[in-house]
Amino acid sequence: MDFHLPDPSTLRDLEAVAVRVASACGRLIVDGRPEQVGVAATKSSLTDVVTEMDRRSEQLAGRLLADERPDDGIVGEEGADQGGSSPITWLVDPIDGTVNYLYGLGHYAVSVAAVVGDPRRERGWRPVAGAVLNAATGEMYSAHTGGGARLDVDGRVSELQVHRAESLGTALVATGFGYEAGRRARQGRVLADLLPQVRDVRRMGAAALDLCAVARGSLDAYYEGGVNAWDVAAGWVIVEEAGGVVRGPQGRRPSPALVLAGADPVLGELEGALVETWAQAGSDAAEPDLR
Ligand code: IPD
Ligand code: CA
Repeated sequence: MDFHLPDPSTLRDLEAVAVRVASACGRLIVDGRPEQVGVAATKSSLTDVVTEMDRRSEQLAGRLLADERPDDGIVGEEGADQGGSSPITWLVDPIDGTVNYLYGLGHYAVSVAAVVGDPRRERGWRPVAGAVLNAATGEMYSAHTGGGARLDVDGRVSELQVHRAESLGTALVATGFGYEAGRRARQGRVLADLLPQVRDVRRMGAAALDLCAVARGSLDAYYEGGVNAWDVAAGWVIVEEAGGVVRGPQGRRPSPALVLAGADPVLGELEGALVETWAQAGSDAAEPDLR
């Protein structure tokens, strides 16, 4: 599917909007984090939690985006779903790494992306600009299509570049797990098979930050099955602009079934290892088979 890209100056503006919104939401969730964070609701399972701050952060993002870009659509993890009259839709993850946030582990993010196409349709969209703020550390990652990817730490800006490991055997690979027990059982079996084939594995708890770690060369690759569009939209454009690739199996566009991020040759080897074990791991999970 071909997408019409906005012109370069619009793309730059979209990145700047994403940075401003992520920054404001990040301040809100850090400053407003209560000593004891309560669970406001659960979603797909008892372990899939929403805090009051997830909701407040998404509301703030919605207000700021409506002010700055009144014609665009907005889709958010906590329920925002508004159409727009422009070709741009914003995908917002108001706290990525909610379980880390709940437990006071300083590794959670706000992810804001501008996408073209329809993010409600599988493979029917692509990101064109985005920002991911590691809210606890203040590290702001951002990119727009054709403009490179940046990390801003207290005003010190550096260009991001993926690391090219030589082979899967020397690659540091991150992944994540869904919230549904059957899916996790299958993901565990896949991981058990992959672990002896790689340098090591990380499960840090925020998909958007996993992608940013790939973009800055702190991880060689990331894969996960069952992610949502808002988890990966901003990180996707950041990885691409850092010289990496984000894709689904067999060179297809990413879909919830499996997202792979990194650089070849490791990405190709990782896909080969995963497709084999995924098929062997059984069909008891929600993800469709990859073959
Ligand atoms: C989750 C995190 C986690 C990933 C899950 C996501 P949330 O997002 O990104 O690392 O493994 O698939 O759902 O629930 O913390 O916003
Ligand atoms: Ca998320």
